[in-house]
Amino acid sequence: MKTIQEMMSLSGRVAVITGGAGRLGSAFGDTLAELGATVLLFDIAGERATSRAAELHARFGMPAFGYAVDITSEEQVTDSIRDAVEKHGRIDILVNNAAYAPAGLPADGFELADQSLANWDAQTGVLVRSTFLMTRASAAPLSASATGSVINIASIYGLVGPVPSLYENTEMQNPAYYAAAKGGVVQLTRYFSTLLAPRIRVNCIAPGGIRTNQPAEFQERYNARTPLGRMANPEDVKGALAYLATDLSAYVTGQIFSVDGGWTAW
Ligand SMILES: NC(=O)c1ccc[n+]([C@@H]2O[C@H](COP(=O)([O-])OP(=O)(O)OC[C@H]3O[C@@H](n4cnc5c(N)ncnc54)[C@H](O)[C@@H]3O)[C@@H](O)[C@H]2O)c1
Repeated sequence: MKTIQEMMSLSGRVAVITGGAGRLGSAFGDTLAELGATVLLFDIAGERATSRAAELHARFGMPAFGYAVDITSEEQVTDSIRDAVEKHGRIDILVNNAAYAPAGLPADGFELADQSLANWDAQTGVLVRSTFLMTRASAAPLSASATGSVINIASIYGLVGPVPSLYENTEMQNPAYYAAAKGGVVQLTRYFSTLLAPRIRVNCIAPGGIRTNQPAEFQERYNARTPLGRMANPEDVKGALAYLATDLSAYVTGQIFSVDGGWTAW
């Protein structure tokens, strides 16, 4: 029987993380590099992805590379995955994490009347279309790996509706596209988990709100609504990713893991 240490090792495996230059993407890169994987950061912000990859290599000693990819483009996704397999020989782990397309459009408001179709189209593209494109393009190499694992990043807002009172007197929004897209990612997880079994495992993490620069009154209301009394930080999501990426979860597929301080428990 393998030890826990052996089951946690990603030595010799190659991981692709979309949105790898962002907040959670950075925490995910750290996690997989620390466990021994070669890490490929796919991001539309190509320079940030390359500098993040250099930081990863310096910190953990594992090979890490940035790829400038718009993951809503079928051609760019296909070419980048082909290039990744040619250069690195395999893909064992895919983390579908990217979000918030830099569409150059005015942000939506909280009210439905202030939400645009243009944002709906741009943002569902990066959240749902890309999950389909990336998974389809990676399915052959993931299948060739004996341990293929896809981890989709959804949100509590793919599971439950927003609480409008949290947003009162703030400029913050929680648009319909986010609910539709994250709900779509949750269901795509179940869909892919049965379609791609038994060669590839597909699971999902649904994080709660990450504390950044939200207005103090929003944070206070959010904290009060959360059983564990606080918003998340990127470190909080690392454990779930480590579990789902490694052989620790070798018999787990099709599951949605809420990492939300208990937000969805009541
Ligand atoms: N931040 C939160 O509070 C929170 C809560 C729950 C779930 N999530 C989810 O976690 C994931 C990561 O969120 P984050 O807070 O780290 O976001 P972030 O904005 O820090 O990072 C997102 C990354 O995606 C990249 N990206 C956007 N469009 C792209 C495209 N077309 N092609 C390639 N890359 C593209 C961006 O350049 C950026 O680096 C998202 O799926 C998000 O919905 C976030």
